[in-house]
Amino acid sequence: MSERQVVTAASVRSRKRAEGSEPIAMVTAYDEPFGRLVDAAGVDIILVGDSLAENVLGHEDTLHVGMDEMAHHVAAVSRARPSALVVGDLPWLSYHLEPLEAVRNAARLIRAGAGAVKLEGGRRRLPAVEAILAAEIPVMGHLGLTPQSLHAMGGYKVQGRQLGAARELLADAKALADAGCFAVVLEGVPEVLAEKVTGEIPVPTIGIGAGPSCDGQVLVMHDLLGLSRRPAPKFVRRYADLGELVLAAVGRYCADVRSGAFPSEEETYHGSRELAAGLGEL
Ligand code: KIV
Repeated sequence: MSERQVVTAASVRSRKRAEGSEPIAMVTAYDEPFGRLVDAAGVDIILVGDSLAENVLGHEDTLHVGMDEMAHHVAAVSRARPSALVVGDLPWLSYHLEPLEAVRNAARLIRAGAGAVKLEGGRRRLPAVEAILAAEIPVMGHLGLTPQSLHAMGGYKVQGRQLGAARELLADAKALADAGCFAVVLEGVPEVLAEKVTGEIPVPTIGIGAGPSCDGQVLVMHDLLGLSRRPAPKFVRRYADLGELVLAAVGRYCADVRSGAFPSEEETYHGSRELAAGLGEL
């Protein structure tokens, strides 16, 4: 089997569909086993998203993870040594206060093994974006329904439905691309707006709940595999029901333990007759 080419922020940047490229496939992962599996399955980008908070750590929203957790999980995924680009998500408040702090936090994710960082927001976040880029760290933008703005948005709502808001989002996307972001995630926006943004900016857009016109797609792995505890949003396609598989497998294991069917002879280490005799005399 031929070795996969290593995916870099620079190689992602060149993948506009309009120029003949295939759509980019991105998925989240939060640990080594799933980092290894999604890489072997052929994804281009593994996002260690701050959705870690909900999908792995049991929090209600993404506002509850900080830099320590994000660096810990970026390091775990990176130990899979994937060919896919690992993007580390900067958590809420890690890049909002001072550009210098944003650079230090981005550098932590790079030292943990990421090849790029992602952050939410448009023109308001340009000082952070520019400072991180000036430290030679590739940045992926994220616009639209940005979960870290949950309270400011008044809930998880599709963004850019009105012309004024759509105009602002387009201006944000252009500003991020002009600043040097290598790609921009568009989350929870009407398809026509995603199509417009995709046509107007020179770097790839990666959609989640943004329709088929983007240069790539991203899904949260726990939604795609049926591991989430919440009902999946309309834009999710569930490719497997691992939750059901886990219930059935662990249920069978419990039944076998309780009935004595596990472990069997073949699953047991046997000692010599001498050892058994010696133990009898102890
Ligand atoms: O954290 C995350 O999973 C994300 C995706 C929804 C893009 O940011």
